[in-house]
Amino acid sequence: MIPGLPQRLGQHGLPQRVTVYEVGARDGLQNEKAVVPTSAKAEFIERLGDAGLWMIEATGFVHPKWVPQLADADALLPQLAGRGFTEHTRFPVLVPNRRGLVRAAAAGAKDVAVFASATETFAAKNLNSTMADSMAEIEATLQQALARGMRTRGYVSMCFGDPWEGPVPVRQVADVVVRLAEAGCTQVSLGDTIGTATPGHVRTLIDALERRGVPRDRLAVHFHDTYGQALANTYAALQAGIATVDASAGGLGGCPYAESATGNLATEDLVWMLDGLGITTGVDLRKLADTSGWMAAILGRPAPSRTVQALTKGTRVSTTTVNG
Ligand code: HMG
Ligand code: MG
Repeated sequence: MIPGLPQRLGQHGLPQRVTVYEVGARDGLQNEKAVVPTSAKAEFIERLGDAGLWMIEATGFVHPKWVPQLADADALLPQLAGRGFTEHTRFPVLVPNRRGLVRAAAAGAKDVAVFASATETFAAKNLNSTMADSMAEIEATLQQALARGMRTRGYVSMCFGDPWEGPVPVRQVADVVVRLAEAGCTQVSLGDTIGTATPGHVRTLIDALERRGVPRDRLAVHFHDTYGQALANTYAALQAGIATVDASAGGLGGCPYAESATGNLATEDLVWMLDGLGITTGVDLRKLADTSGWMAAILGRPAPSRTVQALTKGTRVSTTTVNG
């Protein structure tokens, strides 16, 4: 065992390779009180790339009054050009509507992510709309994105519970996922916006979606860690055949329009588990933890990730302890 890395013990029935879809620069920073300078965001994204991440959601072209933390989206994307990313690195950006898409295209975005709600209350709070009207706007946005040759992802929020409406029926969630898939989203990410999912619920939803014609290779999972369930839920998703997992460097994150949303699943905690399972991600855990430590210093608070805390405090489990 190498200090600072888990022992590798592969398990049958899990994907051999997982794409870590990094959301720290968007989902993470959108919910921080501090507004991080554009140049520091660009450096953060560059360091994430240097740590081996290649799907890096960079920002959101949402209304700047709604999310002031991302008001610099138009300036940020051009700042990524010419930096030392590998050629297959992608920088998807969040777009709420056609206005956001036009801004994203002007800034050079090639991948966009739209977002829908599985509940009426959250559609009103997050999109200032009804589910039906917001879906119509999303479909129009997707059409224009596809016409521009962009790659498209869709998120569905409140898939596993809603703080205002309570339980959300699996069928109601599936209806929204199917609409996004039919509207042209290559991938749909299942959002546990407030972190209430549990592993059996995750499996049930993924199985239900398969029966509704949305195969596992078109799905991703997006867990927030409010109740400490994010890794258990991820493991359930891996067992169900999901091979794209959203995570946020250092465990930054939340949603400004869902008070009970805390940090996302931390990328370091995810990579620690995947490394231990012998699943390839291409991520260098040490470089990533250093990056999250660096961002935590900018934000003036420790990174929530347990793995970052363990690695940066120099906590080590010795081989003798593990084997003895
Ligand atoms: P609205 O105020 O209802 O917008 O906001 P509107 O359509 O009525 O337009 C009002 C004005 O805003 C117009 O300008 C528009 O042009 C302008 P005017 O004609 O008055 O001068 N406008 C815009 N300006 C810049 N960029 C835009 C844009 N759109 C309209 N994109 C809107 C509706 C959807 C824009 C607003 O509600 C919004 O930005 N919401 C986003 C909220 C948000 O970012 N939430 C967090 C991200 S979602 C999330 O975190 C969940 C996720 O992580 C998954 C999970 O965890 O579940 C993805
Ligand atoms: Mg989120």
